Amino acid sequence: MLWPITTQRLDSGELVIGGVSLPALAREFGTPLYIYDEETLRARARAIREAFVARYPRSRVVYASKAYAAPAILRIFNEEGLGLDVVSEGELVAGLRAGISPGEMTLHGNNKSAAELRAALRAGVAHVVIDNFDEIVMLAEIAASLGRVQPVLLRLNPGVDVHTHHKIATGVNDSKFGFPVWDGSAERAVQSALSAPGLQLDGYHMHIGSQLLDWNGYRLAIEEGLAFAAEMRDRYGNVPAVFSPGGGFGIAYTAAMTEPDLSGWAGAAISAVTASCERFGLPLPELVIEPGRTLVGPAGVALYEIGTRKEIEGVRTYVSVDGGMADNIRPALYEARYTAEIANRAHTGPIERVTLAGRYCESGDLLIQDIDLPHLERGDLLAVPGAGAYSLAMASNYNLSLRPAVVLVSGGTARLIRRRETYDDLFATDVVVTSVVPADLVK
Ligand code: LLP
Repeated sequence: MLWPITTQRLDSGELVIGGVSLPALAREFGTPLYIYDEETLRARARAIREAFVARYPRSRVVYASKAYAAPAILRIFNEEGLGLDVVSEGELVAGLRAGISPGEMTLHGNNKSAAELRAALRAGVAHVVIDNFDEIVMLAEIAASLGRVQPVLLRLNPGVDVHTHHKIATGVNDSKFGFPVWDGSAERAVQSALSAPGLQLDGYHMHIGSQLLDWNGYRLAIEEGLAFAAEMRDRYGNVPAVFSPGGGFGIAYTAAMTEPDLSGWAGAAISAVTASCERFGLPLPELVIEPGRTLVGPAGVALYEIGTRKEIEGVRTYVSVDGGMADNIRPALYEARYTAEIANRAHTGPIERVTLAGRYCESGDLLIQDIDLPHLERGDLLAVPGAGAYSLAMASNYNLSLRPAVVLVSGGTARLIRRRETYDDLFATDVVVTSVVPADLVK
């Protein structure tokens, strides 16, 4: 699925999402604008829950909020029965502001600060996923000082290589995440966690990579993880109550890509869990799935306005949009490929090959290289699907640009869930202010 499920093109040629016309949204909220379709968010949440829960009732799906942590969206997922994976105090606060109970949250991170751990324990998060030895010591001390016994999972690095961009593969041998299983670190972590009075070792976690397009690595990691769990049971008597193979489910970014079938993925993962548990004589654990991108990515569309055009004879034609790497750094960082369609008029007419450039002062700020589109004019609107995950989540104010507004569309209405930033927002944290700019000079 490339576009939100409610996407339509009217006879006038205008694109409509959630019953709202994109040109109307651009007029009301300006561009760049991020549009999230509520129906798609809810449908994706239900689909992944059903795929796992129907086959394995002790499944729990937690949304990896790093993909995009707008409280309004966290709220929707929570209403659909999803818990929350947070990787910082900021995401914890976003979850609390969304009204989510800390008892439904899991805290991640490879360098959690003492303050972050203390805040998470005080709030009462369900699990802290321990990443390293320092953290075992630090967390045990904090738990003792608060008079708590904190349920924890250990993050394993199973050493499984996966086919994805090297910057988003996390379970390979050389990774900053987790305790390597093959060099004895993971076993030593089990010993330390079991002997720390403030910690209750509930089980294991893994996350081998993101934007995975097949489930072979996922299945393999489950088998490795449960084999390790069985060894630990044999040596130390600890039986895992919880097992989490993480997230990583890929999505389609262009028409040439097919997203993996969630139900097939769930089937493969669950067979790996049940077969491994049977083989090793382990009771079936609670299975915690941690998707981010697949839940929110296809529900979001970025809307830009076309600006300048530069034809370099015999080289290429650049057409610029009014956003780019500050709202979506993925093309520059991962060579991520996107597609786009005109949103304000029929997507017809003679096709030309252009490179869509961002507006930022950087040669690598190219939103989509070599895309075939009808001739674009200044003022046209361009919609980019698959923009819901890891775009605004990684947005910056590069070139002192203002981060875009975000709307949630549903049933013919649009709700502003994040207003566009202002220059007052931009300078709110500068403590040395030389003068106040006259209000009529800037918005
Ligand atoms: N759980 C853990 C522990 C993770 O580290 C991640 C993602 C997830 C779950 C969710 O993975 P997902 O289902 O979204 O693939 N910025 C990169 C992706 C980084 C992913 C980091 N960890 C991108 O734009 O592709």
